[in-house]
Amino acid sequence: MLKRIVYSVCGAAIVGLGLFSLFAWNPSIDPVIAPIDTEYSPQIIEHGKTLAAAGYCSTCHTPPGGAPYAGNYEMHTEFGTLYSSNITPDVKTGIGSWSEAAFNRAMRTGISRDGSHLLPAFPYEHFNKMTDDDITAIYAYIMTSVPAVEQIKKENGIPFPLNIRSLQAGWKLLFADTQTFEVNTNKTEEWNRGAYLAEGIAHCGACHTPRNALGGEKYAQMYQGAAIDGWIAPSLTSTSTSPIPWRKQHFYEYLTTGNSPLHGSAAGPMAPVMHKGLSALKDSDVHAISAYFGDFAGTNATDEPESNNILKAALAAQHEQPDQRINEGARLYATACQACHYSKDQLVKGRPLIAIGSATHLDAPTNLINVILDGLRSDQGISGVVMPGFRDALSDKDISAIAAFLRQTANQSPWPKLQQQVGEIRNQPRFEH
Ligand code: HEC
Ligand code: HEC
Ligand code: HEC
Repeated sequence: MLKRIVYSVCGAAIVGLGLFSLFAWNPSIDPVIAPIDTEYSPQIIEHGKTLAAAGYCSTCHTPPGGAPYAGNYEMHTEFGTLYSSNITPDVKTGIGSWSEAAFNRAMRTGISRDGSHLLPAFPYEHFNKMTDDDITAIYAYIMTSVPAVEQIKKENGIPFPLNIRSLQAGWKLLFADTQTFEVNTNKTEEWNRGAYLAEGIAHCGACHTPRNALGGEKYAQMYQGAAIDGWIAPSLTSTSTSPIPWRKQHFYEYLTTGNSPLHGSAAGPMAPVMHKGLSALKDSDVHAISAYFGDFAGTNATDEPESNNILKAALAAQHEQPDQRINEGARLYATACQACHYSKDQLVKGRPLIAIGSATHLDAPTNLINVILDGLRSDQGISGVVMPGFRDALSDKDISAIAAFLRQTANQSPWPKLQQQVGEIRNQPRFEH
């Protein structure tokens, strides 16, 4: 009897495995001769260039100092280290022999030309929201305008069995959003344009939507904030911890200048999103994205007087001088930071008011510690504006004292194990772009 059960269980498993292999199997698409410039109009190629920028293809497909689009950009994930592919039109090591159909399939379903499954670190789930015409335009741009570079992709450092590519078929079945973009007829045309861009090419949710233990996006918690590359991508919805609620105009200011004085700067992984990605889009498109997120954050602006009071209180609090003989954080802040983050009675454009900023209001001190350690380069936050880093000048103890002081000025409960967290973040691999 027991034997029979064992046999039937094994049998079922084998049939299951066989069915799964069939399901996971995809044909290879025949290689082709790369298209030449004249097959696509200059307008299509130009449009593709804009979209490739908006999708930060080059950010993920180019390591610091490396050849554009030639891959091997290193991504540290909890499943191991990944390397992006060479997507230059090189025939041997890039996508030079890919047909438009092969490219479209990869962008929509994460399947490589040879039929193997790609990992979701390549945000195909989002690119799938794009129209065929937009995907074609990106293909046209890469194939005709990106210089071919011969460079072999490094092996991903993912442990067995996670490195078995066919298992990705199961992952896709369980977690991937395979829906194409659908217009929401209850919303305006501008909202829908913003949704199309944000959910698709700009893949904001790839960083801002929390993921489950196996790395699938939790769609029910879309844009509610997540950890990414040693940073926190804050919630962009009404669950944001920002004391002054995000509004369409704040999003627009942040996404066009890299800074909202009411919230903070675009540093870390958000810097290239804004500087290399969104800056390539038409102004009306950034307006549309801002309108879309304004809706998520809550469009009714009845909180205006309340926000004004919060702002007034935060400005007034800047003038209160805590006893620097007792509060070491306050003393260090006065010497290291206050020359730039000075007290004023009015909000200064481009100078985030730290007491109401996201960095001091998030549940974790990660972003604040990152900014104190490494500052903001001229290509982060506002273009050309720099904040120095204090990695070498301040100890873990100093930084945790400043962070604790700022958390207190923000009227938030203390962050636990602060000094330990500073030490850990100091030793993390730095996010490089
Ligand atoms: C967040 C990082 C990231 C972004 C953004 C990104 N990619 Fe990738 N891409 C990857 C990674 C990582 C791989 C390799 C995945 C693997 O090893 O399974 C990849 C693989 C690919 C492949 C498959 C290549 C092959 O030989 O199988 C194509 C095609 C591709 N990307 C195109 C693009 C395009 C076009 C864009 C911009 C619209 C883009 N990617 C944006 C990370 C990214
Ligand atoms: C590669 C990951 C990544 C992508 C993609 C991304 N973000 Fe971010 N975003 C972040 C991180 C990390 C931060 C925190 C930056 C900081 O504090 O300096 C952030 C911060 C923000 C903030 C400020 C939030 C706050 O409360 O301070 C806004 C607004 C924002 N992102 C909007 C967007 C939009 C809109 C998109 C898509 C167009 C997008 N992000 C795509 C990682 C990302
Ligand atoms: C030389 C001037 C200068 C000094 C010194 C300085 N800052 Fe800044 N800080 C800036 C500027 C300018 C910005 C906005 C940069 C931008 O958006 O491009 C900024 C931004 C910030 C932000 C917002 C970052 C974000 O991602 O939201 C925080 C938090 C911050 N500073 C904290 C500090 C602390 C703490 C110190 C002291 C340890 C300090 N700053 C020292 C100039 C300075």
